[in-house]
This record gives sequence, C-alpha cells and structure tokens, in this order.
Amino acid sequence: MKLNQRIKNLLVATALLAVPSVVIAAPAPIVIKFSHVVAQNTPKGQAADYFKKLVDERTKGRVKVEVYPNSQLYKDKEEMEALQLGAVQMLAPSLAKFAPLGVKEFEVFDLPFLFSNYQELHKVTQGPVGAKLLKKLEPKGIQGLAYWDNGFKVMSANKPLRTPDDFKALKMRIQSSKVLDSQMRSMGAIPQVIAFSEVYQALQTGVANGTENPPSNLYTQKMYEVQKYATLSDHGYLGYAVIVNKKFWGSLPADLRTILEGCMKDATKFANDVAKKDNDEALAAVKKSGRTQFVTLTPQERAVWKKNMDKAHKEHMARIGADLVKDVYRETGYNPEK
Ligand code: LMR
Repeated sequence: MKLNQRIKNLLVATALLAVPSVVIAAPAPIVIKFSHVVAQNTPKGQAADYFKKLVDERTKGRVKVEVYPNSQLYKDKEEMEALQLGAVQMLAPSLAKFAPLGVKEFEVFDLPFLFSNYQELHKVTQGPVGAKLLKKLEPKGIQGLAYWDNGFKVMSANKPLRTPDDFKALKMRIQSSKVLDSQMRSMGAIPQVIAFSEVYQALQTGVANGTENPPSNLYTQKMYEVQKYATLSDHGYLGYAVIVNKKFWGSLPADLRTILEGCMKDATKFANDVAKKDNDEALAAVKKSGRTQFVTLTPQERAVWKKNMDKAHKEHMARIGADLVKDVYRETGYNPEK
C-alpha cells in the first residue's frame, strides 16, 4: 500500500471512531471523606478500610469512601472543625477528644480503672447508655453512628513507672481530656496535651517524657523506639465514636443511607473483633523488638495507682454528669469504694 493510501485509510478509521454515539453519563458518586489520625494497620485503620470496601461493593460505586489515615488531612482538633464545616464527612476520634466540641460527657470513658475488660465496656457502648450519649452530639451538627474499640492503655516513659514517686515531675503527653489531666496529676506528673501526630517527635526530643496508649498505637507510631519502659497497667480505655456531619447524612437518599448503615454495622463488628487481637500482636511485636521493657505491677502497686487515680472520678463526677457516671458504674459494676 502506498503511503498516501495508508494515510487516507487512517483518516477514515479515525473519522469512524469519532462518530458521535449516545453516552449516558453515570451520575457522579457521592464522596465520603473519612479522615483519621492513626496508622492503617490499627483497629481503627483497618475498620475504616473495611467500611470503604463494603460501601464500594454494596452501593455499586454510587458512594465512594476516601480514607485519609495518619493525620494526612487533619490533626486531632482540626478534624473536628473540618467535620462541622463539611470539609470531611466522617471521622472516628478517640472518645477522649470530644470535650473541645462542647460534649464533655464522653470523658466518662477516660475515668481510670472504670472498665476491667471489653465485656464491661460493651455493656455501655452497645447498650442504652452509649446510645443516649451519641444523641448529645446532634446539637453540634454531628451524628454518632457507632463505637469502635481500641483497647486498654499501657503507661510508658524512659524509666520504669511503678509508684507515684516514679511519675514525679514527668511530662506526660495526654489527649485533650480534663479527666486524663487529673489522672496524670494524681500520680504527680505534669500532663501535656499534644496532637497524636506529634507524639513521636515530642517523646524523641523530650518535649514529653512519657505517654499512655494501647499497644497498637505504641507500636504503629513507633513510640516504642523512644520509650524504654512501659507498664502493663490497663489503667484506662481508649476507643472511638464514628461520627458524621449530620446535615450530610440527612441529605443522603434514604435507600443509600440504609445501605451505609448496614456497612457501618458490619464494619463495627469487624473493628471490635480485631481490636484485642491487634493489641495483643502489637504488644508481642514491641516485646520482640527489645526496645521497650515491660513492667508488671504487683497487686499492691496497682492498688496505689487506683487509689490515686480515683481522684479523677471525684473531681469530674459533676462536670461529666453524676447521673451518667452512676449509670456507667451500674453497667460495669465499678465500685469507687473498692
Ligand atoms: C491519641 O491521640 O493518643 C489517640 O486518640 C489516637 C487514636 O486515635 O487512637
């Protein structure tokens, strides 16, 4: 074939391809930006990814969840503001981070030694007290969808922490919770509120000397590289409320909202099923690294922690709401006298 002929053929073929056809464009998907501060391989990180997967499958692409882990988009305080402004649609902040929003009742979960295990916790998070608490978010333009577990906290520093003397004058990083502030002061430490994304550096540079977190965060944020000791105290619980911008949630077509609620129910089961296992594995990984030595309290030492930290219960009973605190005591069987 001559070159001219080839060019002609090519032009014809191109023209045929360009014949307009009727294209029905699919409507653009509804996007849910889900921002969080932890690593992907944590209970919250995995559950957020699982929620995304379920939504993709079940809405057949009508809703797209974009997950932004590791404070990529916003840090602790900023993400709450972003949710209220509608810059993101979904978050799962720690229950210790709701007071700056004006809902201090969530700090009930920070009360030291309140929950002895996940079963006691679930009586609250999966029962009427937890549901009532989520309703308190609504006047803030936020809807609470679920509680996701993380786990029980270890207390870390560069020295072994056994007695209140060991805490004296230590700068301990906390989340923005007044209950946690009291808890650290009751042991003689100086609490410092620091955003989660800055904890590693704060510990590395000595801006903070120690901190508390479940093993999953200690491990995935590499805090264990800069903390020589961690006490297996289980003195408090850290978990999450999954929340959405209320206006956005209300504006969804009802059929889609029902599907999303189903996805959330299943993602919640997933989160709560992996939480203990993830924390056990993280603890084992830190032990294996040899970077952090673990301290186990004697029953007597633990009793001293509990007695000191009980001050946080007394100091915050009225602020959190005596009725709520007593409801939680009733569910968990916590006895402040013991
Ligand atoms: C923290 O700030 O220590 C935690 O709230 C981080 C998280 O979301 O688990």
